[in-house]
Amino acid sequence: MTSLLSWDDYGDEAAMKPKSLGSQLQQQEAASVEHKPLADLPDNLDLFSSNTTVNGTPAATAKVTVSTTQAATPETTNTTVNTAETGRAISTQTPELSPATTDESMASEAVVKEEAKIMAGHEEAGKSDSQVYGAVLPNMGNQRITIEKKKIINCQDCDLNQLVPFKYTWAWDKYLAGCANHWMPQEVNMTADIALWKDPNGLTADERMIIMRNLGFFSTADSLVANNLVLAIYRHITNPECRQYLLRQAFEEALHTHAYQYVIESLGMDEGELFNMYREIPCIATKAQFALPYTQSLADPHFKTGTPENDQRLLRDLIAFYVVFEGIFFYVGFTQVLSMGRRNKMVGTSEQFQYILRDESMHLNFGIDVINQIKLENPHLWTESFQQDMIDLIKKGVELEIQYACDTMPRGVLGMNAKIFEGYLQFIANRRCVQIGLHEQYPGAENPFPWISEMMDLKKEKNFFETRVTEYQTGGTLNWDN
Ligand SMILES: [Fe+2]
Ligand SMILES: [Fe+2]
Repeated sequence: MTSLLSWDDYGDEAAMKPKSLGSQLQQQEAASVEHKPLADLPDNLDLFSSNTTVNGTPAATAKVTVSTTQAATPETTNTTVNTAETGRAISTQTPELSPATTDESMASEAVVKEEAKIMAGHEEAGKSDSQVYGAVLPNMGNQRITIEKKKIINCQDCDLNQLVPFKYTWAWDKYLAGCANHWMPQEVNMTADIALWKDPNGLTADERMIIMRNLGFFSTADSLVANNLVLAIYRHITNPECRQYLLRQAFEEALHTHAYQYVIESLGMDEGELFNMYREIPCIATKAQFALPYTQSLADPHFKTGTPENDQRLLRDLIAFYVVFEGIFFYVGFTQVLSMGRRNKMVGTSEQFQYILRDESMHLNFGIDVINQIKLENPHLWTESFQQDMIDLIKKGVELEIQYACDTMPRGVLGMNAKIFEGYLQFIANRRCVQIGLHEQYPGAENPFPWISEMMDLKKEKNFFETRVTEYQTGGTLNWDN
């Protein structure tokens, strides 16, 4: 099953996507149309609540409020949009304009107009929003779905409850490969790690810091990724085979969070300290701070794709999460922990990270395929200015991850230091740029850790199934009487 794909993120990425995709993209890029740049996100987003705030007001209510009430209060202005199919009235109330709220109110009006425009487009195609997003059945006797009708975003003619016929076989292949890589955190033997961690002389202070900081970062980072998938990304990808992979990925992210929790619990660490690091340790908080705006805009229930600006926003947010967050922000931590495992220290923790890295490599490559497919189908989105925005985004990610390397490794440890990581991150960023059709940004950067790619191919080192400490948990371990 795994032979379907190369796990090696550093190998030939052409093996990970349809061979013709790159050349088609280059042709499409040449014909791309200029669009105005994306509006900036508010820079005072509330990082740790599910509600975005703008100047202290929840952004969703500052922008637009869905309401079934008909009467407007004297303090509000009302805009009502009726959908032809459902008769559903969406009443949008915006606060009355005042000098303090002018910007927000103008933004509200823009959102209302944009939503009406997108809904009009759906109605013109004879679809309600629910149909577009796959929440209702098509009419009896509708024409059968053909692959020509399938589109990765803004698909007006799709039935999202019907998996086949496949159009994007790369998504289905990755789904199968992900399932073939199934593992559970409690299957990894943690005995040696527990003994080493509890031995006062077992590890140096610098080695302990590496373990603590990375468990602190990843234990919340993977929940952030999972929430982004289910609350933000999933709804806007209008293709069932891609959604099938997203569902698998979401479960894997849950497993990863489980793995970090399992290690933290096994080692008897202070859970409060570890799980709060993303609020309390600056180099961890800044990475979460970087990512959150890129999920909050899509998670806004009023956000819809269908305009060039909003489609660019989706594309940008996919790049922020798949290319920067999962594709750059994970690599210092993975390398540090795997490096300990190579020196026979914290081998169980390292093994957990190894399985996670393998999953993450697939997530990254799926994200890159989605990004490239959106570009292929919507070449007008890939403007010069948008490309520059994405380069800036990736470079910002590199900067933050270098800072993370410095903060987690104040001195050289395990044959590594922050300077070596700077080169490594530049090498990774070059690869990420090329993978989505941008030019390399760091000429001459080389990979100082070629062994990382070998770690992804578990079969080179050991047979995964032979190292499991428990049998695969089937019905025999469950008590059905309960
Ligand atoms: Fe993950
Ligand atoms: Fe992931």
